This record gives sequence, C-alpha cells and structure tokens, in this order.
Amino acid sequence: MKEHRYADRVLGVEMSGIRRLFDAGGQDAINLGIGQPDFDTPDHIKMAAIAAIREGRTGYTPNAGIPELREAICGKFARENNLTYLPEQILVTAGGSEALHLVMEALVNPGDRVLVPDPGFLSYAALAVIAGGRPVGVPLDSNLHVDVEQAKELMDGARLLVLNSPGNPTGAVESEESIRALVEYANDRGVTVVSDEVYEHFVYEKKHVSAARFGDDVITVNAASKTYAMTGWRVGYLAAPSEDYIPQLLKVHQYAQACATSISQYAAVAAYTGDQTPVARMREEYRARRDLLYEGLTGLGFDFPRPEGAFYMFVPMGQNLIQKAIANGVIIVPGDAFGSRAPDYARISYATSRQNLTRAIARLGELMR
Ligand SMILES: Cc1ncc(COP(=O)(O)O)c(C=O)c1O
Repeated sequence: MKEHRYADRVLGVEMSGIRRLFDAGGQDAINLGIGQPDFDTPDHIKMAAIAAIREGRTGYTPNAGIPELREAICGKFARENNLTYLPEQILVTAGGSEALHLVMEALVNPGDRVLVPDPGFLSYAALAVIAGGRPVGVPLDSNLHVDVEQAKELMDGARLLVLNSPGNPTGAVESEESIRALVEYANDRGVTVVSDEVYEHFVYEKKHVSAARFGDDVITVNAASKTYAMTGWRVGYLAAPSEDYIPQLLKVHQYAQACATSISQYAAVAAYTGDQTPVARMREEYRARRDLLYEGLTGLGFDFPRPEGAFYMFVPMGQNLIQKAIANGVIIVPGDAFGSRAPDYARISYATSRQNLTRAIARLGELMR
C-alpha cells in the first residue's frame, strides 16, 4: 500500500477523545458524553430558514456575513454584554470552531505560546498546534477556576490567552474580578485575549461578564450553537476590538470557507432579534438537571463544587470507576480528553433528560457497591 505523507503540524494533533466514545456502551447505554443541547431549534428560527430557502436566498453571501446578521450581533452585544461594536468589527463564521481556527491562523506565528486552560476544551490546544503555535496549559485551582496567579506567571512573551467562561469541561464561571485581572494583565503585556463565551446563557447564579469589557485587545468568540440549540446549523462569529483585525482574519475565512451557510445566517438573524424566551426555558431546565445530578452525585459521596454554568460537571471519580462506568453503559468523558492535568476526573454532560440522569445516578450507585 502506498505510504502517504502528512504535515507535521497535523500529525502532532490527536483525534478527539470524545468521538471515540460514541460507539461505547451497547444498547442500554445512557449517554452523558454529549456536548450539545438535546433541545430542538426553536420554531421561529426554523421558519426563518425555510423562508430563506423559499425566497431563494441560497447563494454566497458577503464573506464576513450578511449585513443584517452583523447588525443583529452588534445589537446582541449592546443588549446582553454592555459592549458597543460596529458591524465592521464582526465576522460571521461556521460555528465558534471556525472563529477559533481563524484567530489561531491569523495571529499565531511558528513557536508562539498560546495559553489555554488545562483541563479545557481541547480545540484550543489542537488549533494552536495546527497553526504552528505551542499550547501551554494554564492550571485550574482546586475549585476548577483559572488560577490567576499561575496564569500571570506564564504570561510574559505569550501571544494569546484563551479564556472560556462558563467553561467546558468544568462548568465553572469565572468571577468578574478574575476576568478583569487576567485581561488587564494580559493586555498590559501585549498578550491578546481570546474569550470563548459560547455558554454565556447557561449561568445559574452568577452573572456572565464579557472579557472584552476590561481590555482593548480582546477577541470574543461566540455562536448560535449552544444558546439556540443550533449546533448543526454551523453559525458563529467573532468580535474584534478594532476593524483592523477583520481583513487579516477574513483572508483565512474567505479562502477556506468563503462564507457561513446563507440559510443558517438568515436563521441566526431570527435567533438574535426574535423571542428570547426559549433560551430562558432551556436555562431553567438545565438548572433543574444540574441540581438533580449534583444532589445525586454528592449523595453517592463525590466531593466537588457545584458547577455554576454550561451543562457539564467535572467530577473526581478515579480512573477505575470511570472505566467501569463506561463499560457498563454510563457514557462519560475521561478527563484526559481535556488535557494532561485531570486524568482522575470525568466530564458528565446533563444535556439529556432528567430520566436519563436519574438512571445514570442509580447505575453508578450500583457500580460503587
Ligand atoms: C467551549 C466551546 N467552545 C466552542 C465550541 C464550538 O462550538 P460550535 O459548535 O459553535 O463550533 C464548543 C463546542 O463544544 C465548546 O464547548
């Protein structure tokens, strides 16, 4: 067989450990490994997409996104985040993933250090490697929040600092104080902050605060994916602190992607300008599930802080029990899928029914007897 050759920067990246799990567990499996809402996209958003198809709005759009959507995203920032942007500062992408990719490709030079939370969403480190950069893990403290002092020690000479609050896999929501301290320290030292806020609407007690409030070099990454249960539509965006960023980011986007899907962009206009009550309903359901799962797991003896956001819990279970759970059809994601520092933890997603959560708790209880 012919031996194919590949680029070193791609060989340096592993396949996601989460995908590998999807086939595990057999028929009776309870899947708590999933990182996407189990809700359907709200109807008014679907109707906007159907109208776009019917009206033939199915061609390429402007590379940076349709003007209505860039405007709608500016409206969202003003309404929800107390931030003022011009449409020229917004770039519409194929999900938050593409926005992260563009930032890495456009800003990272070979060997540049990219600070990423560890444990954290694995795309940050993988995309940094693909861009030729060098990911460096920022440790979390015992409550699973970014350790601000240790982050500061890593900051000199770094190119990017990635923040993710609410966080995947931890469910941690960083305090305003920490976010401000990290952003000010980073920007003072010429480190650009990339703030991934895709879970901003799933915060249960605290208030979400956007990192861009605290510095003049913060790129915000966000998406319709989680907020509006639109993961398959592939629509996200980034907001840059000045218009200067956009042409450079746009080069990567226009040659690799041309534009985000036209139909999804029209749907996203309806999402950002339409009725927001479905988001509140999803948040309340996630909150109830979080409480159910947290009470269940602490009742079994697990000791960890109640997560404040997203739809994940990061639970210190030990590797034996994690493997036993997966083998017995409770699909959870081992901590080593999120970096090097938390192999004894597992990410448990509660983007699934309360009934499934109750069954999973009972099955875990049996396995621990
Ligand atoms: C923290 C975080 N950022 C970004 C993404 C990517 O989202 P999208 O589906 O919009 O590409 C995910 C998806 O799991 C995520 O967990």
